[in-house]
Amino acid sequence: MSVDKFEFLINGIIDKDYGAIDNFIPMEWVDLLSLRLEERFENGEFKFAGIGKEEFFDRDKEIRNDQIHWLYRKEAQPTELLFLEHMDRFMNYLNKTCFTALHDHEFHYAVYKEGSFYKRHLDQFRNDESRLFSAICYLNKDWKEDDGGELVLYLPEGPKRILPEAGRLVFFRSDLLEHEVLPTNRERRSITGWMKTA
Ligand code: OGA
Ligand code: NI
Repeated sequence: MSVDKFEFLINGIIDKDYGAIDNFIPMEWVDLLSLRLEERFENGEFKFAGIGKEEFFDRDKEIRNDQIHWLYRKEAQPTELLFLEHMDRFMNYLNKTCFTALHDHEFHYAVYKEGSFYKRHLDQFRNDESRLFSAICYLNKDWKEDDGGELVLYLPEGPKRILPEAGRLVFFRSDLLEHEVLPTNRERRSITGWMKTA
């Protein structure tokens, strides 16, 4: 039941500042989303991600060098739509049970080619506090420690490393938890996004 998974992720945040759960999405979705991602990548729909204004783009690349494609409902393929609708359910569950005033969410595919990384950061921008929760869903089967590319969460008790294994979802407060993506030795794929207030 997905409600149990939603509960588990929320309790994770309450107990230890993050939630992480396996099989948040079924493996069939992982396979289909990976195919859609590949098509879109080959079709030139991905761009190097920035962290701020265009004119600082070169500097940005020393901080992150992943490539992203935003998912829009109106151009979503069926499995992408299923994913976004699943996030609708999670958002509605949060609003119902936690009195969060979430209005929307935004998600993008992210591809980290070999050698790519995203240095330590917070997901909330100084001039925009609308991102309340971060959620990252991984699409990489059989990720090994030697593959690198771990997500590191900087928790009060010390850093926690999480492997980007297919179907796994990690969930945390966008304004509170600093985190990092270590350089990856293998192509690393995810759908990453944010639950937002108005
Ligand atoms: C991000 C991010 C983490 C990950 O895109 O802001 O921190 O594990 N991603 O991909
Ligand atoms: Ni981040």
